[in-house]
Amino acid sequence: MSEVRFGLIGCGVIYKTHADALAKIDGAKLVAVHDIVHEKACEAADLYHCAPAKTIQELCELSDAVIVCTPSGLHAEVGVQVAQSGRHVMVEKPIDTTRAKAQSLVDAAKLAGVKLATISQHRFSSAIQRTREAAQNGELGDLLAGDAYVKWYRTQAYYDSGDWRGTWALDGGGCLINQGIHMIDMIQWIMGGVKSVQAQVRTASHDIEVEDIAQALIEYKNGAIGLIYGSTSFYPGLAERLEVHGKHGTVILEGDRVKMWKADPVAAAEGLYGGGVMMQPTPNQHTADQNEADLVASSIDDPTSKWGEQHRLQLEDFTWAILDGREPFITGEASMEPLKIIMAIYQSAKEDGRRIYL
Ligand SMILES: NC(=O)c1ccc[n+]([C@@H]2O[C@H](COP(=O)([O-])OP(=O)(O)OC[C@H]3O[C@@H](n4cnc5c(N)ncnc54)[C@H](O)[C@@H]3O)[C@@H](O)[C@H]2O)c1
Repeated sequence: MSEVRFGLIGCGVIYKTHADALAKIDGAKLVAVHDIVHEKACEAADLYHCAPAKTIQELCELSDAVIVCTPSGLHAEVGVQVAQSGRHVMVEKPIDTTRAKAQSLVDAAKLAGVKLATISQHRFSSAIQRTREAAQNGELGDLLAGDAYVKWYRTQAYYDSGDWRGTWALDGGGCLINQGIHMIDMIQWIMGGVKSVQAQVRTASHDIEVEDIAQALIEYKNGAIGLIYGSTSFYPGLAERLEVHGKHGTVILEGDRVKMWKADPVAAAEGLYGGGVMMQPTPNQHTADQNEADLVASSIDDPTSKWGEQHRLQLEDFTWAILDGREPFITGEASMEPLKIIMAIYQSAKEDGRRIYL
């Protein structure tokens, strides 16, 4: 096979990001679209010069791989049908809205021998990748804390724009599972996995079933601590922010751009400040600051921090995983991690902040 023929299910808000991305990928081609509202599929087919399929089965017959952009609580149900037809599956985030449904999709893909991935586009940001590398290779020293702040704003009109939005059944929750999930995945990936959570949530400013403010105290697998903060209530909405602290350095990212990168290279290399010794300025401070200046400057124009580009990179990786017969960068199993954390946060909040182990 020299080209992957893609089908796409669900022609709503996000599908154009996928369709535009596929048009820029060598080895990928959008050949068919399907929506439960057939007129939407016809409109999309006209726009992207592909076939409007009346059923999922018809779509699968035309495709090698299928992207699922339906409401979140249908990802597994639709994805399982695609996998059972022997087509590779890429689902939008979250993988689904419950662990059981998500696992059913992972199992179906394994049984059918097809590739499965879930969109988590920020993992393709070079600033995020660089931070994960620094956190995991000891450049920041032993990790102490990792925080993710997603203080966004959504109007009531946003929630009213689709009858699945803000519902337990199809959105699966609120500001954490729909909006916060991106940075929850980033911080858990950078820090190396979450061990336990203690949380509070509120439905504070919208007429919806699910949370629009949430906070959780996090314990990571490596013993570091942290905070996850999510909201769709805070006008006017702030850029999402990650803060990572190690014994020898701090990295702050805002909107996938480096805001601060202070790492003491001598301390990290020689363990100078280990064992609770207070941090002091070093002769190498200039080197560390220069490094920061370069990173801040380069991340301003970094194409990987721009909307659409990260989807393109993830779809390109998925395309070449299929063509080269390798695993995609983000597998179905990997995309269970943010879902497990969010489910544990909801459980903890329901039990008045009891610590929940994943
Ligand atoms: N990665 C990101 O940054 C990002 C951004 C936005 C949305 N998303 C995700 O994409 C998914 C879709 O979000 P959206 O905002 O495009 O929603 P949307 O409501 O605008 O679009 C969903 C589409 O799916 C169709 N649909 C519903 N049930 C269907 C079914 N059973 N079979 C076929 N089509 C069906 C609807 O008619 C609609 O056209 C969600 O899971 C959301 O979390 C991800």
